[in-house]
Amino acid sequence: MSTTFTPSLTHDNRIQHAGLRQKVMSAEAAAALIPAGAVLGMSGFTGSGYPKALPQALAQRIEAERAAGRAFDVGVWTGASTAPELDGALAPAMRQRLPYQSDPAVRRQINAGAINYIDMHLSHVAPMAQAGFLGRMDVAVIEVAGILADGRLVPTTSLGNNQAWLDMADKVILEVNAWQSVALEGMHDVYRVALPPAREPIPLTAPGQSIGTMYMECDPDKIIAIIETDATDRNSPFKAPDADSQRIAAHIIDFLQNEVKHGRLPANLLPLQSGVGNIANAVLAGLNESHFEGLTAYTEVLQDGMLRMIESGKLTFASATALSLSPEATEFFNKNIEKFRGRVLLRPQDVSNHPEVIRRLGVLAMNAMIEADIYGNINSTHVMGSAMMNGIGGSGDFARNAYISFFMSPSVAKGGAISCIVPMVSHTDHTEHDVQVLVTEQGLADLRGLAPVQRAKLIIEKCAHPDYRDALRDYLKDAQKVANGQHTPHIMGESLAWHRRFLQSGSMK
Ligand code: COA
Repeated sequence: MSTTFTPSLTHDNRIQHAGLRQKVMSAEAAAALIPAGAVLGMSGFTGSGYPKALPQALAQRIEAERAAGRAFDVGVWTGASTAPELDGALAPAMRQRLPYQSDPAVRRQINAGAINYIDMHLSHVAPMAQAGFLGRMDVAVIEVAGILADGRLVPTTSLGNNQAWLDMADKVILEVNAWQSVALEGMHDVYRVALPPAREPIPLTAPGQSIGTMYMECDPDKIIAIIETDATDRNSPFKAPDADSQRIAAHIIDFLQNEVKHGRLPANLLPLQSGVGNIANAVLAGLNESHFEGLTAYTEVLQDGMLRMIESGKLTFASATALSLSPEATEFFNKNIEKFRGRVLLRPQDVSNHPEVIRRLGVLAMNAMIEADIYGNINSTHVMGSAMMNGIGGSGDFARNAYISFFMSPSVAKGGAISCIVPMVSHTDHTEHDVQVLVTEQGLADLRGLAPVQRAKLIIEKCAHPDYRDALRDYLKDAQKVANGQHTPHIMGESLAWHRRFLQSGSMK
């Protein structure tokens, strides 16, 4: 990509299409155009690039309609999680939500049985929606940085499923957000993946390669309203890496150094994927301090840690679908955006998370988990088997297709009352087949080339907390006796006893 690109958008002239300028209206007027029961395809991926005015105006309208005795709910499809102005505002009105969330109000409603939450691999969302598997979408509500004179749309800090929603929806509402930097123009690569039988190979062979266009497209006749906003993205600040996350990072860095030493990875590694949350961010902070040079990233969310790595020169290029930066890092990015031009590219999530590309590039996938079992099956989503935390997000897209797939977590939760290494996971998101390396602050288990009992012994010795190690050793020994040499020994009836004990007594001990 050229580093001398000059954006067409200017801060004071963000709606350059004369016809579309006539469609500017208030958020309340636009909300009035949404019918009861509508399925809404909204932009937003983490607290970035989501519509900020329409969801709040719609929530108020729904409250008024309901107060007047009229039924009104909506289905909400996005790229991934969003922020309180969208998920928080609409939580009471949601009938259906997909594909990922991390909002406390939505989580409460999901776990109260009030929202039908469809937890999907993020790479599946656009193709399944476009194939008609998920039903009909009525209105797309998409935040943009601006509209060019010819109607092309300049995306913002996330690309998610925006182009797919613009293509599918009968009607479109745009929010033009003056807070979004006009210099984002040129930092996106919009590429449409066709449905079979017309699907073709995605011609992407390096994280920095552009294969599409810088803009989104939409038939201007479908656009029924434009709302002008000036509102910040809202991502949570990251916690400073604690001692456990630093130990996890150190184990991973040792492992990577050893892989390079033995010729199983090149000196500048392979493209990195780093999941959501504080531990993932801490691993990136560790890599920034390491001696690795010339790294690249092919990931879903670009967090503070990666931004620092780009700034320090450790990371030469990052491909993602969203910038998920803390308020502080957002300010830094916006002030220094030209430094990042040519080093950051945002893609649709069905490209950033596409199995074909992840497999081709040989991505090193690092994701957090809730719990793992002694054989390496992973639960990323459900607390004690039933309560939804956030969702699988892109972790499955990356884990299944990675060159090496890492899962990481502290070895215990809730002050030691919960062991994150258990005899059997209470819910499975990633099977043992998709997990090559398991890491806790206690150590790292390299599971490659090991059979189930070998894996179990290593996971117990390397990853389990000392307080739980003996109990896990006993479980494995007893299970081997009961299963009489069978391949993956378990004691049915006892394998979930640890979870039962926690639910009954508040501790797995
Ligand atoms: N049982 C019960 N609760 C547990 C637990 C366990 N085994 N392990 C962790 N928790 C709790 C923690 O106590 C914490 O609770 P709190 O919010 O009440 O403090 C919460 O889960 C989050 O744990 P934390 O250690 O802070 O981890 P995190 O912020 O790194 O999040 C996941 C971990 C797994 C929830 C998060 O990474 C996630 O949602 N992953 C799935 C999606 C994903 O991987 N996306 C990336 C793809 S690109």
